[in-house]
Amino acid sequence: MKNIIIKNDAIDIAFHGSKIIFEQLRKKKNSVLCLATGSSVIRLYYNIYKNFKKKKISFKNVSTFNLDEYLGLSKDHSLSYRYFMQRHFFNHIDILNKNINFLDGKSLNPKLECENYEKKIERKGGIDLTILGIGVNGHIAFCEPGSKKNSLTHITKLSKKTIEQNSDGRFFRNKKDVPKKALTMGIATILSSKKIVVIANGKRKAKAIKKSLKGKITPMIPASYLQSHNNIIWLLDKEAASEL
Ligand code: GLP
Repeated sequence: MKNIIIKNDAIDIAFHGSKIIFEQLRKKKNSVLCLATGSSVIRLYYNIYKNFKKKKISFKNVSTFNLDEYLGLSKDHSLSYRYFMQRHFFNHIDILNKNINFLDGKSLNPKLECENYEKKIERKGGIDLTILGIGVNGHIAFCEPGSKKNSLTHITKLSKKTIEQNSDGRFFRNKKDVPKKALTMGIATILSSKKIVVIANGKRKAKAIKKSLKGKITPMIPASYLQSHNNIIWLLDKEAASEL
């Protein structure tokens, strides 16, 4: 049985998504979370930081890993994912800086950076809960079409489609400004998470959602690999679910 929850809109998704995160943190105060960036999760993070105190939740013992980062952007660059997380989430919760783990887009040795990231995740005992978005081409994190199921954290080339999507004005304004490469957790890294919540809203995600959930498992739709995970929730709005 696929665990698909369909909500009216992004606001309801954020509300339900926060509930899942709060439950997780109530169960395990020192949870290890894996977090996504992108427009789909902004409202979720907002809802969490607006309510965590009221709900008597603390992030003091929580550790986070983010899924990906643009290669070449420093953590202070206003379009880096590290900056996004600070602005949309970390600045507003009581997480300790030492517990925030991120791939360094400016690393002098990106390959080693990726290897070390895997080791850090392992040392923390693995990831308890991953929040995932999905690209219109079915990518997860920056695992683009063609990604292998056994891939670990690695350097990747962004697809044309992803560069196009991420330069539509929500983040970058021009294609030429979007970095062409990124560091990303691999499919195997993501699938090793004990629990996964995928968040998608809007019509532009409907095709990718259909292919990921109903299509065959294929490297061409990286999110289709998620069909093999046994503890996953698809949290969608009506539009994203409209082709199911
Ligand atoms: C980006 C990120 C993904 C994200 C996806 C969807 O390129 N690398 O981690 O899930 O694309 O983004 P959005 O929520 O903005 O549609």
